[in-house]
Amino acid sequence: MRIVTSNPPTNFNPLASLTLSNEGNSVETMAFTADERLYLGAEAEVWRGSWMGLPAVRKQRRLRSWRHPDLDDRLGRRRMIAEARLMVRLHKSGLNIPVLYDCDVVEQQLVMSNVPGQPLIELLNDASIGDATVNDHLRAAGRSIRMLHRQAIVHGDLSTNNIMMTPEGEAVLIDFGLAKIEFETELYGIDLHVLFEILGASHPHREGAMEAVLEGYAQCEDDLGPAPTTSGGDPVSMSDVLERFDLIRTRVRYHG
Ligand SMILES: Nc1ncnc2c1ncn2[C@@H]1O[C@H](COP(=O)(O)OP(=O)(O)OP(=O)(O)O)[C@@H](O)[C@H]1O
Ligand SMILES: [Mg+2]
Repeated sequence: MRIVTSNPPTNFNPLASLTLSNEGNSVETMAFTADERLYLGAEAEVWRGSWMGLPAVRKQRRLRSWRHPDLDDRLGRRRMIAEARLMVRLHKSGLNIPVLYDCDVVEQQLVMSNVPGQPLIELLNDASIGDATVNDHLRAAGRSIRMLHRQAIVHGDLSTNNIMMTPEGEAVLIDFGLAKIEFETELYGIDLHVLFEILGASHPHREGAMEAVLEGYAQCEDDLGPAPTTSGGDPVSMSDVLERFDLIRTRVRYHG
């Protein structure tokens, strides 16, 4: 099995990355040095360190003990390969997302560039940051979400943990483990609705938060014009997504 990338991005090493033998065994060992653990979750353990001298992050999938090990292994590999493929595709399209450096399918590890800054959740929870500044961050997040949607890709897990804010004020989406190429309006509406629910449940003191996200989302299209056709077809338009999001919001409000 092999994942081929044409026109690989600069500082992307196609030999160390995604190079697999037919049996699925990785040929390369990972040149990653771990410094500090950033995160220990149900599905992944994330370490910050360096890869070939570059600041990097290693995401290691964790075993799900309740699943049969063979099934867990197969599912885990499939998901990881899908995540790696989408990361390469998005980077090649010019999106500001982590650069994939290495992918070890057997060990179920991805190594990618380290995104400097803080997850959006930390900024929202920081009482010393005023609403005006927070709304700037949220507008940037909305813009980055629309940039992803313009590629005909839904994120699938738009939590405030999965949006990194850089010191320059850019919102960088991470964690493409559930992302997919899609052309159904509903799925894009749901992507926004997931974030809406999280903002309401976890950050209710930040009034107007979702409005700021939607402003950034709409502004992106105003700046760049309609999304170009992708190889799979036309991405769902900005106005269709916003309309569907409103509909989902109403539906959930009245029917739970
Ligand atoms: N490239 C990166 N740069 C900086 N920090 C990162 C990067 N990737 C992940 N992180 C940090 O690690 C955390 C977890 O990573 P990620 O969201 O990819 O794992 P996950 O799939 O959500 O794991 P789980 O499903 O177990 O929750 C992120 O919320 C972020 O704080
Ligand atoms: Mg995550």
